[in-house]
Amino acid sequence: MQTLQDKNIVIGITGGIAAYKIPELVRRLKDQGANVRVVMTDGAKAFITPLTLQAVSGYAVSDSLLDTEAELAMGHIELAKWADLVLVAPATANTLAKFAHGLAADLLSTIILATNAPIVVIPAMNQQMWHAQATQDNIAILQNRQVSIWGPAQGEQACGDLGYGRMIEVAEIVERTCQLYQTKSLTDQHWVITAGPTREAIDPVRYISNHSSGKMGFAIAEAAQQAGASVTLISGPVNLPTPPGVERIDIESAEQLHQQALKSAPKATVFIACAAVADYRVEQVAPHKIKKTNDNEQMQLNLVKNPDIVADVAQLTNKPFTVGFAAETQDVEQYALAKLKRKNLDLIAANDVAQQGQGFNSDNNALTVFSREKQFDIPLANKQIVAQQLVKLISEQLD
Ligand code: PMT
Repeated sequence: MQTLQDKNIVIGITGGIAAYKIPELVRRLKDQGANVRVVMTDGAKAFITPLTLQAVSGYAVSDSLLDTEAELAMGHIELAKWADLVLVAPATANTLAKFAHGLAADLLSTIILATNAPIVVIPAMNQQMWHAQATQDNIAILQNRQVSIWGPAQGEQACGDLGYGRMIEVAEIVERTCQLYQTKSLTDQHWVITAGPTREAIDPVRYISNHSSGKMGFAIAEAAQQAGASVTLISGPVNLPTPPGVERIDIESAEQLHQQALKSAPKATVFIACAAVADYRVEQVAPHKIKKTNDNEQMQLNLVKNPDIVADVAQLTNKPFTVGFAAETQDVEQYALAKLKRKNLDLIAANDVAQQGQGFNSDNNALTVFSREKQFDIPLANKQIVAQQLVKLISEQLD
């Protein structure tokens, strides 16, 4: 299978001299199996014709928000939804400013606002403009929003200046695009993944739980399934659809999760404990709703320790490659490494959940993954991208 098989890529071209390289980029991405649709700004059309891009992409080029015929064929919102990836190349300083400040001034900037797909911006401009504080501030804003910035490269520029500002080469863009999706095929492998919170009953209507939404574990299950593995997802109570092709087992408590994990893990190649499991449960669950009384200003619950699920999986004689998570609010590395050893894990993905905009119940995450010898960083991105990178990393460790 080609690396970009059936990936829908929107390429946004803006008004820079490097626009002349984009037909080659379109062809190379198509060689890898991608479907490519091109959006051009008015500036881009001063450097290259829509007809050329139409010929190489096989689709009419989109260039206006106000063209009713083009909107009928595929409207801007549809195009934004169609995309699995939006690549903007070359991206001028003006384009970066528009994206950073959320302008919907033309078709391309509107798509950038309307898409859920990962966005990659490939800048090309005069080196002085690249170093200008305004441009650097705009870059920082975009990076903060998980927009990837590739380049610029250093070298001689069309204007004769030397320095950073050249668009990175087409071959590098293609390689980096493929890397976003490249995972060794996991066919013949079985991955078991836990996700979401557990609920520890107090009485028939109350429980102890946490803020896990299940998004991270579900994204890992989806990424592993897409890479070819057969996947069992053991999930606590969450409000998420099951990823296509994934077997899902629903549980509520840590004890139920323990039971299901030990049933599934012996057949697994990889076991990933992403669930946020309650360390303790209520010793005596009340058979009826506990009533508030006038005499009691305080109430005490006796808690007992839950089994450590991932540690028990890692003790199995036919132990799968076992990956834990560590959600920490301080001394992240130290605690994660201690858990890696104590629980006999092969890898641990440390999650700094004190950081805003990542971790529990967020769409984004960033991980530092530790083995006994090495450390790997997966930078802040949406959980789908983080999951793809984690699956790729794990698959590379299996050799
Ligand atoms: O679900 P989301 O909203 O997307 O959020 C994702 C997440 C923050 C929940 C996830 O990325 C994460 O960090 N999961 C682990 C949370 C956690 O409970 O960490 P911990 O440090 O308490 O546990 C360490 C490891 O032991 C984890 O792999 C956990 O699954 C496992 N564990 C913990 C207790 C227990 N009794 N049994 C276990 O197996």
